[in-house]
Amino acid sequence: MTAPMITLREGVGIPQVGFGVFQIPPEEVQVATENALSIGYRHIDTAAAYNNEAGVGRAVRTSGIPRDDIFVTTKLRNRDQGYDSTLAAFERSQEALGLDVIDLYLIHWPYPRHGLYLDSWRAMESLLADGVVRAIGVSNFLPEHLNLLAAEATISPALNQIELHPSFAQRALREDLASRGIAVQAYSPLGQGADLDNQVVRGVAEAHGVTPAQVVLRWHTQQGTIVIPKSVSPERMTSNLEIFDFTLSTEELSAIDGLDTETRIGGDPATFDFPQG
Ligand SMILES: NC(=O)c1ccc[n+]([C@@H]2O[C@H](COP(=O)([O-])OP(=O)(O)OC[C@H]3O[C@@H](n4cnc5c(N)ncnc54)[C@H](OP(=O)(O)O)[C@@H]3O)[C@@H](O)[C@H]2O)c1
Repeated sequence: MTAPMITLREGVGIPQVGFGVFQIPPEEVQVATENALSIGYRHIDTAAAYNNEAGVGRAVRTSGIPRDDIFVTTKLRNRDQGYDSTLAAFERSQEALGLDVIDLYLIHWPYPRHGLYLDSWRAMESLLADGVVRAIGVSNFLPEHLNLLAAEATISPALNQIELHPSFAQRALREDLASRGIAVQAYSPLGQGADLDNQVVRGVAEAHGVTPAQVVLRWHTQQGTIVIPKSVSPERMTSNLEIFDFTLSTEELSAIDGLDTETRIGGDPATFDFPQG
C-alpha cells in the first residue's frame, strides 16, 4: 500500500499521504515510525519542536528501506529563526535525525513579531543550493508573509503546511496558494479527531463502507492536498493510507465543504509567539 506522488516546484516528488509525529513522545516515536514504514508510509513529518527527531531518524535508518524511497520533513523552531541560527539549527536536526540530506525543511511559523523569517528563508535557500535539503517550504504562513518572500526572496516556497480540515477549510488561503504555485499540505487533517463525529461525514462514510477518517482524508486528497495524519494505532495508520480505492462524488465533496465553521484548533499564525514552537 502506497500513496500517489505529488510533484513539488523543484521537481521533487512527495507522497500525498505522510505520517505526522506531533505529540508522539520521544520514547514511542521509533516504534510508531517503524510501524508506519512497514504499513507502507514513505513520508514522515517531524519538527525540531516535537523533540522526537532522533527516534524518527533511527526508524528511517534501520528500516532496510532505501533512503531515497523515504521522504523526511523537519521544521525550524521559532527561537532558531535568523540567518546563522537557522544554519546551526539545521545541523542539529541533521545530527538528531542522523541523515545527511533532509527532503523538506520548513519554517515552522512566521513568528512575525520578531521579523526574522526572511533571514531564515535566505539561510534555507543556501541549504538548498548546498544540496543538503531537496526542497524548502513554510508552515503557517499567511498571504502577508508570502508577499514579503515573493518580493525579497530568490526562491518561492515549494509548499505551505497549514491547519486544514473540514471545520477549518481555508478555501481563500488554498486558492491564494494555488495562484502562487505553492503546494498545500494539511496539518491536523482530521481536526485532531474532532471532525470525525460529524453527521454528514458519518453518512458519507456509511454510503461508501469506509470510516469517517477515510472520508475526510479523501476529501483532502481529491482536491490535491497533501495530508499528514497522526496515529499511534497501526490499525488507524493502515486505514488512513487506504483511501485511494473509492471516490467521493461532487455532491459529497460539497456537503463536506459545507461543514466549514472557520474554527481553528491550533495557534493563529499572525500572533503565535512561542519561542519553543
Ligand atoms: N506545522 C504545524 O504547526 C503543525 C501543527 C500541528 C500538527 N502538525 C503536523 O500534522 C500532523 C497531524 O496533525 P495532528 O496530529 O494535530 O492531528 P490529526 O492527524 O488531525 O489527528 C490526530 C488525532 O486523530 C486520531 N486519529 C488518527 N487516525 C484516526 C482514525 N482513523 N480514526 C479516529 N481517530 C484517528 C489520533 O489518535 P490515535 O493516535 O490514538 O490514533 C489523534 O488523536 C502532526 O502529527 C504533525 O506532523 C503540524
